[in-house]
Amino acid sequence: MMKNDIIIRSEENTDHRAVEELIRESFWNVYRPGCSEHYVIHLLREDPAFIKELDLVMEKGGRLIGQNMFMKTLIKADDGRNIDVLTMGPICIAHDLKRQGYGKQLLDYSLEKAAALGFGAVLFEGSIGFYGKSGFDYASKFNIRYHDLPEDADFSFFLCKELRPGYLDGVTGVYLTPKGYYVTDEQVEEFDKHFPPKQKLKLPGQIF
Ligand SMILES: CC(C)(COP(=O)(O)OP(=O)(O)OC[C@H]1O[C@@H](n2cnc3c(N)ncnc32)[C@H](O)[C@@H]1OP(=O)(O)O)[C@@H](O)C(=O)NCCC(=O)NCCS
Repeated sequence: MMKNDIIIRSEENTDHRAVEELIRESFWNVYRPGCSEHYVIHLLREDPAFIKELDLVMEKGGRLIGQNMFMKTLIKADDGRNIDVLTMGPICIAHDLKRQGYGKQLLDYSLEKAAALGFGAVLFEGSIGFYGKSGFDYASKFNIRYHDLPEDADFSFFLCKELRPGYLDGVTGVYLTPKGYYVTDEQVEEFDKHFPPKQKLKLPGQIF
């Protein structure tokens, strides 16, 4: 996709390091002191659930400024069915270009592409403030529960969007986060040694 000086294209092997650096800069100290997402994508690219066609980067005037990616996963339906769905992320925009509309542009394009490939729904953990503008709603409104949380827990972080309207009609069940997203602090620490030193800060608003 090309619009003005923005290009959204598939991530190439030669982009891997630059994409990991971009993710590290964008997520650093946002949700926790430091971040793990640059390591997560490093692993997920090799995961069988990774969707190569939806591994996208955004460039502005030739500079890499954003990325997004998707994984296949499941809802374990209460009636015993496995419902194929997608999960998404990490998604990020370069730190100095946040809140200028690029994230929404990348997200909307990615979702259109996922829909065109025939996928039915996307679920993940995120802020309704950003994702709500692209049609996401609370997953609880679709009767989908988050794994490993008690029934009365606050699920407002858990979001869903149908890519095919009605795809989740008649489905109730539990969403499973793909195993590939689970990494240990020790693994992240080790991986992070391959990047320039960066100060970890404990900041207000972090969730971990
Ligand atoms: C989250 C992120 C991808 C959003 O991209 P962005 O380019 O900054 O967002 P946009 O400018 O396209 O925002 C689109 C809309 O969402 C809103 N929005 C963006 N980030 C938001 C946030 N964190 N909380 C609430 N609303 C937000 C904006 O106000 C904007 O609304 P408007 O069009 O009415 O002004 C980007 O800020 C980022 O990389 N953050 C760090 C990494 C991260 O948190 N990734 C997501 C993990 S779930």
